[in-house]
This record gives sequence, structure tokens and C-alpha cells, in this order.
Amino acid sequence: MTKYLCIFLTLISSLLLAETEKTLSIIKPDAVQAQNIGKILSKFEENGLKIVAMRMLKLTPERISQFYAEHKDRPFYPALVEFMSSGPIVAIVLKGEDAIAKNRQLMGATDPTKATQGTLRALFAQSTTKNAVHGSDSPQSAEREISFFFTPAEIY
Ligand code: CMP
Repeated sequence: MTKYLCIFLTLISSLLLAETEKTLSIIKPDAVQAQNIGKILSKFEENGLKIVAMRMLKLTPERISQFYAEHKDRPFYPALVEFMSSGPIVAIVLKGEDAIAKNRQLMGATDPTKATQGTLRALFAQSTTKNAVHGSDSPQSAEREISFFFTPAEIY
């Protein structure tokens, strides 16, 4: 009896503690070019992530450098900026319980050869640079990255 009460209380507390969050996702130029937008959006929706803002756009190298400024001293930075400004991207705000972690889990590892089977990168990425999707990695990044693309009035 005590065991069942404990399980019940654990379930209730995890439900109460699960936080509704927003996170930024980007469908990168490789996945747009390969016509994988629809398949990626379906994965979000099938996994309980609600699309509350979305826009297709092509960023200049200057704008994408600002977005990835934290990586500016990394050796892969020039290639990343060149690739991310090479074609249109889709910027999306996803909303849901633990949306940041859930999206990161759905995406899989940065290097697609190390990504778990069934994740977006295992399914759609070509390389560590051309890796199909981006997702915010913390609440602070999510806030900064969402406001990089959207005003509050554009988020539903
Ligand atoms: P993303 O999740 O958008 O965050 C930063 C990006 O830098 C990452 O996906 C990759 O596209 C790229 N990146 C990270 N690590 C490497 C690496 N070791 N080599 C090349 N590109 C990388």
C-alpha cells in the first residue's frame, strides 16, 4: 500500500514540477534544401512540442555571426557561419513541458555519427556542420535566441 502511495505521489509531483517552457529550433539550410521541413515539424508535433511561432528567412553572415557569437574562437566557426548563411533556414519557437530538454533529446548528438537512432540528426544530418537542426541548450539561451528572431507579439 505504502509502495503504491509513493508511486502515486512521485507521479503527481513530477507532473506538477514539469515546467512549460519555450525553446528555439532552427531547421538549417541542408535540411531545407533536402525538403525535410515537413518531416521535422511532424516530429516536433508528434512529441508534444507545439509550434507557437515560425518564419523562413535567409540570414547574412554578419547576423549569423551574432547568433553564434559564443563560438567565435572555435576552429569550426568560419565554416559554421558560411554554411548557416548559405541558404534559407526556418526559425521556430516550440512550447511544451520541458521543451528545451525534450527538443535536445529529439535532435540527437551534434555529430550525426554519434546521434541515437531515430533522432533528427541521425535521420537528416549530413555532417557535424550540416547537422539539420539547432536547439537552445538552456533557459538563458532560449530567451536570447527566441528574441533574436521574434518579438513577443509574434509568438502565439
Ligand atoms: P548547433 O547545435 O547549431 O550549435 C553550434 C554548431 O556548431 C553545431 O550545431 C554545429 O553545427 C557546429 N559545430 C559544433 N561542433 C563542431 C565541430 N566540432 N566541428 C564542426 N562544427 C561544429
